[in-house]
Amino acid sequence: MIGQDIIYAKQQLEKGLLVGIPTETVYGLAANALDQQAVTRIFEAKNRPSFDPLIIHTSSWDRVGQWVRDIPPLAQQLAENFLPGPLTLLLPKRAIVPDIVTAGLPLVGIRIPSHPLTKSLLEQLDFPLAAPSANPFGYISPTTAQHVANQLGQKVAYILEGGPCAVGVESTIISFEAGRSTVLRKGGTSIENIEALIGPVAVYAHSTSNPQAPGMLKSHYAPNVPFYLGQLDQLFAQHQDKKVGVLAFHQGLTADSIAHQIILSPSANLAEAAQGLFAAMRALDQLPLDLIIAEPFPEEGLGRAINDRLRRAATSA
Ligand code: TXA
Ligand code: MG
Repeated sequence: MIGQDIIYAKQQLEKGLLVGIPTETVYGLAANALDQQAVTRIFEAKNRPSFDPLIIHTSSWDRVGQWVRDIPPLAQQLAENFLPGPLTLLLPKRAIVPDIVTAGLPLVGIRIPSHPLTKSLLEQLDFPLAAPSANPFGYISPTTAQHVANQLGQKVAYILEGGPCAVGVESTIISFEAGRSTVLRKGGTSIENIEALIGPVAVYAHSTSNPQAPGMLKSHYAPNVPFYLGQLDQLFAQHQDKKVGVLAFHQGLTADSIAHQIILSPSANLAEAAQGLFAAMRALDQLPLDLIIAEPFPEEGLGRAINDRLRRAATSA
């Protein structure tokens, strides 16, 4: 069931059930983070390996001390400037956070989403919500309530309808171990903005999903149709005889024989491109295509997060 009933969503979560929640980045698959059994349901519903830790969501920075032991000054500074927003801070967890949430790791990801509906839900709960992206493990993250319903509809008690996600790529994840700030996943808060505030940060080479490196698993964000990343004209020339779907930044190809083309932002706006990225990948994946081709984005701002997702979606070989 999809709707905007926050009270109903709250009741389901209090019963230990799963609820799809909108955030500014992507939709989450939420459960009471302090209830082991509820958290287990998340892993089952997503078919997610238990070694892949979850992040927890709450309504305000003031509450975070209940779940983390220590807040380094750089984390505090980032929180004051960027939260609520698309940034997840990895901080040392207190014992009250069940080990299943962090896959046994000492750090827990803390996220304060800015979506008004989810913010208001979180304000009314007396526990934080563990929530990964609401997609089956390895598939493209959902950016509408309908995306969640299509794939996980049978497994959730309710989906909160919050409209299409404004940012469209997941939160940036940053850790502060050994006095060094490291971005583990490029996301909705740009590295440029982070560095403007706290100075240079290390960036983990391949960003996401094993405990050391969130999002490293090879086939992540992957469509079912073979997906290639490179120069569009060259890729297209190699596959003239096939049904090709094209995912372009602002220009696209002009050939008549393209089966379907999506131009993410005719005005070359990276934020607009990020917003539409996952919905476009899903749309192309639904069509009877032989392959999808996409081009690399400018390696700046949100373009870095977009490139990271495209690379991990790409068919190897
Ligand atoms: O924007 C987002 O962050 C969305 C929305 C729903 O909030 N959530 C999300 O969660 O993307 P998920 O689980 O799909 O991705 C979180 C990533 C995973 O790749 C996980 O491996 C990593 O964060 N992660 C979580 N806790 C970690 C930890 N303690 N150490 C290292 N990586 C961690
Ligand atoms: Mg995910």
